[in-house]
Amino acid sequence: MISQQTIQQILSRVDVVEVVGSFVKLKKRGVNYIGLCPFHNEKSPSFSVSPTKEIYKCFGCGKSGNSISFLMEAEKYSYVEALRWLANKYNVEIEETEVSPELKAQYQVADSLYIINQFAQQYFAEKLFDSEEGQDIAMSYLKERGFREEIIRKFQIGYCLQERDAFAKAAIAGQYNQEYLQKSGLIVVRDERPYDNYRGRIIFPIHNQSGKVLGFGARVIGKAERAPKYINTPENEIYHKSKILYGSYFARQAIDKNDECLLVEGYTDVVSLHQAGIENVVASGGTSLTPDQLRLVKKYTKNLTIIYDGDSAGVKAALRGLDLALEEGLNVKLVLIPDNEDPDSYVNKIGAAKFQDFVKANKKDFILFQVEILMKDAGDDTNKKAALVNQIAETIAKLNKAEDFTKQQDYIRRCSSLLRIDETGLNTLVNKFIRDKVMKQESKLPVDDGQYYEDQPPPFIPEDEAGSLFNKDEMSERGMVRCLLEFGLKPWDENRRVADFIFEESVDQNMIDNKELVRVMDTYKVWYDEGIEPGPKNFLYHEDQQLSAMVVTVMDFAYELSPNWSEHFDGKLPSREDLYREEVISTVNYLKLRKIRRMVEENQRDLERPHTPEEQLVLIQTHMHLKQMEREILKQGGTVIMK
Ligand code: GTP
Ligand code: MN
Repeated sequence: MISQQTIQQILSRVDVVEVVGSFVKLKKRGVNYIGLCPFHNEKSPSFSVSPTKEIYKCFGCGKSGNSISFLMEAEKYSYVEALRWLANKYNVEIEETEVSPELKAQYQVADSLYIINQFAQQYFAEKLFDSEEGQDIAMSYLKERGFREEIIRKFQIGYCLQERDAFAKAAIAGQYNQEYLQKSGLIVVRDERPYDNYRGRIIFPIHNQSGKVLGFGARVIGKAERAPKYINTPENEIYHKSKILYGSYFARQAIDKNDECLLVEGYTDVVSLHQAGIENVVASGGTSLTPDQLRLVKKYTKNLTIIYDGDSAGVKAALRGLDLALEEGLNVKLVLIPDNEDPDSYVNKIGAAKFQDFVKANKKDFILFQVEILMKDAGDDTNKKAALVNQIAETIAKLNKAEDFTKQQDYIRRCSSLLRIDETGLNTLVNKFIRDKVMKQESKLPVDDGQYYEDQPPPFIPEDEAGSLFNKDEMSERGMVRCLLEFGLKPWDENRRVADFIFEESVDQNMIDNKELVRVMDTYKVWYDEGIEPGPKNFLYHEDQQLSAMVVTVMDFAYELSPNWSEHFDGKLPSREDLYREEVISTVNYLKLRKIRRMVEENQRDLERPHTPEEQLVLIQTHMHLKQMEREILKQGGTVIMK
């Protein structure tokens, strides 16, 4: 884990304008910076970055956050990856801390699995090369398929003997822990006896980025008749199928050099292409691509070329996963291998040079290819045609990063001509899908409460307008949290600070409905009680992105008085600083009143039901008591307005 000290160091140097500016072209406008939003498609800038608040916000699509959430969103980094990126940018040396016992235990299991896998890999390789059975059965099969010794060694391929437990015995004799051996998938225990799981199979080790063995794919020799063709390592502490690209360890440099990643389906495809001198190739392992795998590709290159067999089932499956690649901003090309061949068999058939030429000549643009296939499929069926136009529009809509804008226009032009439909019509349809998508994302965000740029007065929203923009309850609840974050540490009276006052008045009485806001307050309270002096920054960079996002919207731009604005008042405008007591009182009172009125209403509903005279008396007394409280609050805080 990265130490708290390191995190502090990173955060003290972070400049949100610099971070966002590494990805988005920003122009200064007033105290803020603006640019084209990287999260949705736009021609005029509505994306704003505030260096003082250390946040960004898009007034078009509603996305907002801090430097870390920006990196997480735009670059798909994890929280820790984002920190590492920042540490690197700002030359902060990362100091790792002691990890929690649970994490430590997990690391320990992972370490043990790596060690077992390394042992197993060496064991299986030795059996392939140095045992009679390995040579007779496995090596002869591999040679027959055209694999040469040199490539077999490079990929550390091995063989597991047919004997029931040859490997298990060797591993146990080597003092390897049986529980971990099971976890690794290398052995299974039946009737309390360990058996080798990969008996009589060719073993393909699967490596991580640094060449350590994560797991194995074990192939039957010859045709798979009764058993499955491959047995793979089960999910465990180090083997996560959805994050693995077979061959990436060996392909990395070639991908860099070519600025392109070839993707095939099978292990043998990767090995054969390597043998043919085509090294920028990885395999997905037979299933459709996962988002994690795409992200891995994107770390190396933006150019992904998928080489699949021509059989239609495989192609359709591939097409399905690929919209995801477009969303990640990858340039996707497709090459189909003809005649029931796969890349392995095809390169063996026609040779390396011809294979390279074939790939070059047959690279199809993914979107245009999709149009072709779907058009063939639809034929003269008008319903199918309409559906296909929709599907293409949806796909094009996924290219909606700012940088892809021209690309998108280009596709709209080319697809509309292929589909023989009106270009503006397709454009409208694409925009509809973009809007739908943004709305869907927006509905997941907390309600937004401001639409003003700082240098566009007025910063004060007139009462009736405020009502239509967002409801007053939500605004007051947010106001309460804002008061806490902004003024919590200021003095309230002789003995208390604002935070003490707010907690006494509110938290115990659950005056806030919004669960996320309650969570912010609870988190604040925990910190406050521990003696930490919390402020917006503690939340802004909190690991919990939802919490951080909530605080960003609460501390929004709209509440900052613009410098221009105060000039109109000859500097006489009272600042929020001077008025914080009033603001706290009026917010607390509003919420208290709301609560009292809710209780009055409930009490009245109760009164309408039949009661014994005693019960009725209690209810009436409650009513009077509540009304008295209401009057007191109204007397105290003149600023409270309620419908
Ligand atoms: P060869 O047939 O020896 O050329 O292997 P291949 O790698 O070309 O296999 P294929 O094209 O049939 O399948 C592609 C990939 O899907 C394989 O490399 C495996 O990762 C995976 N796969 C294929 N069959 C199975 C199976 O029976 N079980 C599992 N778990 N995965 C399989
Ligand atoms: Mn194959």
